[in-house]
Amino acid sequence: MATFHREIIEVADAAALARAAAERVIARMESNPGRIAICLTGGSSPKQLYELLGQEPYKNQVPWDRVHWFIGDDRFVKAADPLNNMSMARRIFLDRCAPAVNIHPIATESHSPYEAAHLYETELKTFYGATVLDPPQPLFDLVLLGVGPDGHIASLFPGYPAVNVTDQWVVGVSEAHVAPFVPRVSLTLPALGSCHEMLFELSGADKRAILTRVLTGEDLPANRARAYEGETVWLCDSAALPENYRD
Ligand code: 6PG
Repeated sequence: MATFHREIIEVADAAALARAAAERVIARMESNPGRIAICLTGGSSPKQLYELLGQEPYKNQVPWDRVHWFIGDDRFVKAADPLNNMSMARRIFLDRCAPAVNIHPIATESHSPYEAAHLYETELKTFYGATVLDPPQPLFDLVLLGVGPDGHIASLFPGYPAVNVTDQWVVGVSEAHVAPFVPRVSLTLPALGSCHEMLFELSGADKRAILTRVLTGEDLPANRARAYEGETVWLCDSAALPENYRD
């Protein structure tokens, strides 16, 4: 059962959801005058948001030189593979807008998902400047997440040991619970939770079944994911929300 505070914000549809998400991302950037770290997500849910961030009026509001872009999980496939999450974000907006040194992909062409996890953990620790997460100093300004049909977030699948890992920031996941059935590399709950804001995006009637399970408090990765010292916000469109939660 989720015992932390989660704010649920209802919006009309997918387009409104992407706009609301873009506005939250920009507001979060505006609240940090220094170096900013955003952790992106894969799947289809964030694509419209990524398109907006690469277009006016939002593009002009992003302090591109100060923003570093990470990814919460990736499929262990080559960068050129259409399934690669960071490549999707790069194609939609990052390669056009962000300095290359500010884009931090997972090394999905390394020897194994475990090696890629180790490399990414080292990169995150170097960026953070410490090897232990200090709750009042979150790693990320904002972490974006989607929810899979089984209640997974990033590549933390229900019932898999990776969900319970607390002594690593990044793990290799040898198999996926849902398609695409390729090995994954995923940040763990403590790393994802080290943020000022965790922002979920759920759109469309296909999400209603899993959202119903989440909101009844089932023990799912999606219910364990939260910002430990920040805001946890679920942006949902009307089609995704169960009837008794609408309005
Ligand atoms: C991935 C993701 C994954 C995704 C959810 C929701 O690599 O697949 O990062 O956790 O966010 O499965 O996916 P959709 O947005 O496609 O529904």
